Amino acid sequence: MSTTDAQHAAPQPIYLKDYRPPAWLVEDVKLTFRLDPTATRVLSRIRFVPNPDAPGAFKLDGEKLKLISAAIDGVPVEPEITDTQLTCKTPDGPFTWEAEVEIDPQGNTTLEGLYMSNGMYCTQCEAEGFRKITYYPDRPDVMAPFSVRIESDLPVLLSNGNPGKRGDAFAEWIDPWPKPAYLFALVAGELVAHEDSFTTAGGKDVDLAIWVREADIGKCAFGMDALKRSMLWDEQVYGREYDLDVFNIVAVDDFNMGAMENKGLNIFNSAAVLASPETATDANFERIESIIAHEYFHNWTGNRITCRDWFQLCLKEGLTVFRDQQFSADERSAAVRRIDDVLALRARQFREDNGPLAHPVRPQSFVEINNFYTATVYEKGAELIRMLKRLVGDNAYYEALELYFARHDGQACTIEDWLAVFEDATGRDLSQFKRWYSQAGTPRVYVTEDWRDGSYTLQFHQETPPTPGQDEKRSLVIPVAVGLLAQNGSELRGTEVLELTSREQSFTFENLPERPVPSILREFSAPVILHRNSDKAERLFLLRHDTDSFNKWEAARGLMKDCLTGMALGENTADEDLLSALADVLRDDTLDPAFRALVLQQPSEDDIAQTLFEANTTPDPTRIHQVSEQFANAFAAHAEGSLASVFTAMKPEGVYAPDAQGAGRRALLNASLTLLSRRDGGERAAEQYDTADNMTLQLGSLSALLRVGSGISQLERFYDQWADDRLVLDKWFSMQVALATPGDAARIATDLAEHPKFDWKNPNRFRAVVGGLASNAAGFHHASGKGYDFVSDWLIRLDPVNPQTTARMSTVFETWRRYDADRQDLMRAALGRIQSSPGLSRDTGEMVARILE
Ligand code: ARG
Ligand code: ZN
Repeated sequence: MSTTDAQHAAPQPIYLKDYRPPAWLVEDVKLTFRLDPTATRVLSRIRFVPNPDAPGAFKLDGEKLKLISAAIDGVPVEPEITDTQLTCKTPDGPFTWEAEVEIDPQGNTTLEGLYMSNGMYCTQCEAEGFRKITYYPDRPDVMAPFSVRIESDLPVLLSNGNPGKRGDAFAEWIDPWPKPAYLFALVAGELVAHEDSFTTAGGKDVDLAIWVREADIGKCAFGMDALKRSMLWDEQVYGREYDLDVFNIVAVDDFNMGAMENKGLNIFNSAAVLASPETATDANFERIESIIAHEYFHNWTGNRITCRDWFQLCLKEGLTVFRDQQFSADERSAAVRRIDDVLALRARQFREDNGPLAHPVRPQSFVEINNFYTATVYEKGAELIRMLKRLVGDNAYYEALELYFARHDGQACTIEDWLAVFEDATGRDLSQFKRWYSQAGTPRVYVTEDWRDGSYTLQFHQETPPTPGQDEKRSLVIPVAVGLLAQNGSELRGTEVLELTSREQSFTFENLPERPVPSILREFSAPVILHRNSDKAERLFLLRHDTDSFNKWEAARGLMKDCLTGMALGENTADEDLLSALADVLRDDTLDPAFRALVLQQPSEDDIAQTLFEANTTPDPTRIHQVSEQFANAFAAHAEGSLASVFTAMKPEGVYAPDAQGAGRRALLNASLTLLSRRDGGERAAEQYDTADNMTLQLGSLSALLRVGSGISQLERFYDQWADDRLVLDKWFSMQVALATPGDAARIATDLAEHPKFDWKNPNRFRAVVGGLASNAAGFHHASGKGYDFVSDWLIRLDPVNPQTTARMSTVFETWRRYDADRQDLMRAALGRIQSSPGLSRDTGEMVARILE
């Protein structure tokens, strides 16, 4: 290999099978930060002890650090340093390591490690960002108590744990709970606090604060309320109490993800915590509530018990997502939450699982771990916990969790540890269930039936299609919740969980008075694609009668998907029976308005494309967009009268509150308005825009206007009203692109990218415009290729600045194989241009290579 080849050689993957325990353990960490925008000094004093179980050389991780000095037991040393590591001769026994390094927070645009966001210092260390702060064994299985001293003139100086000494221009923090370095955090800035307190079940008073810039102080109340409800819920449902004297949350404008669960100091993307009725929609409030809960719940599932290595990421993320889903279901409508969660699972995880980026919930290898914070690890990981709970039952589930907390508190664990707890608590053999963690791909479950002499038999066949690197698939344990309905709509058999374990399996229900109508996969009891030749009549029947609200909704969804795919193939038009059935749901005021709004929501264009692709036809994004519009127009015409009366009935009463009930009514109001605008040319929407006193109604009316090609003056007024509010302005940017007609989308995105407020280095703003275009399926996939060009040009530009956000957004190209040859060529060319851009990051390099593979 020549030198140039060596320089350009692809970075080597890391394998789960190569895991070795750390050679050195850490007993105690003391850090001092002398903050300076371009030359921050970090002094570390770390007590190392050899790991008796795994002797080996002393190595520390470190990147982009300038070493000023290093000493062992007070004696200066001169370590060997590479771009990523430090090695040094050490005593055989315990010793104290002291080092001073210099770092440049201002110059750190990656938003990983210590960086600056609008004049404030903040950190993001998960997964491997701590190594950009000082030399350290930056791996989750090295846990230690930290104490931190921050020296700066800034008024607010925060770190993990409990506050220690505070003086003129310094603050100290002591975190008594051993933690891995990825949970370290530091914040310094001119911030103000929205304060409150919480008394734990054990009587401990905890000071709570949400730290924001002064202008945002009015947007903290909801987040605080969500935090207190989360703390109470975790005590009541999981018996978990908080374990420090303070709990701090900080809102940061520049953040790659939603939020981060640093011990005692959660750091949030400001979009994931700040909300007021005037600036945030119901959907924003709901998301904030679940992210606050998620990060708080990590205190036990993630922090007190953490992951041994990053392959085990789903151990904390799958479980914590499941816990936040449970919380939201308890706080709001469980049925509606389940439908929302499944919609998100299908839109993101099924899409991932059925394309080139498919990977197991516990991956076997990675090049860049940041690329594995995926829908599969998070959302499918949560589905696995949900199935496990269903299989062992609720009581056994909570007993197993008790055992998990008792046995593993303070440890860094694996999926094996997790499953062993369930095996020990329940006596059940989970070896087959474990395949869910290692086998990628979405299982297909095919069902046929047989009826004779009062016996009804369901025959199941399961099959998981091959995924990259995994050709052979084994059978999985699949819990299928089934109920049987009588012809008159009453329930013949209540929900029962059938456990599929082999490729082919039948279940017979005896002694039935009549041939039943089956309701299969109730509550979406497993993350699979169900194939059943059910005809329209059966689906219409289930939509009318199913007692399981998920399957009731699913019946409508199936009908709409069949209708829209048929329309896309030119085989049929909008079906009158379906339109009538939907109108019945619209009018049925015994049903929760939020549920009705969900039934009326059409399958996304991306979903239709995927469905066509699965049926071996090539989706045409333009045509899919046209038929989606046709269907909406047909329904609006069919149900105009009902829409108008529901719209009137759902008009808000009293003061806005972001609760589930009010939100449900507004969802149905906006859904009706959007459809009605197709009839009245936006008259009602313009009126709602003028009178709206909250963002849900303001945005609902503005998007209804944009969808019918109107709203120019409202867009201008919206801008003038909100030009100084970053989070609202993100909505202004994204909605114009996301709702543009296919032919206009790329041009509008290009114009907006020239706008003085398009601060492309801010991930929220970048996602608003570039992600906004990618979310406009017909605009992104426009035959001109301009959508692909726009997105790839911007990814190339962002990569050297922020590899993480670039790599994540490159997934917009993961579906290239679905499309016709011309589009495939265009998309591959776009990916090729990204791939060959000089100095491409390891993050984006790995993603593009996998997408093209
Ligand atoms: N642990 C955080 C959460 O889910 C996400 C951190 C993601 N970090 C990353 N580098 N990808 O709550
Ligand atoms: Zn998480």
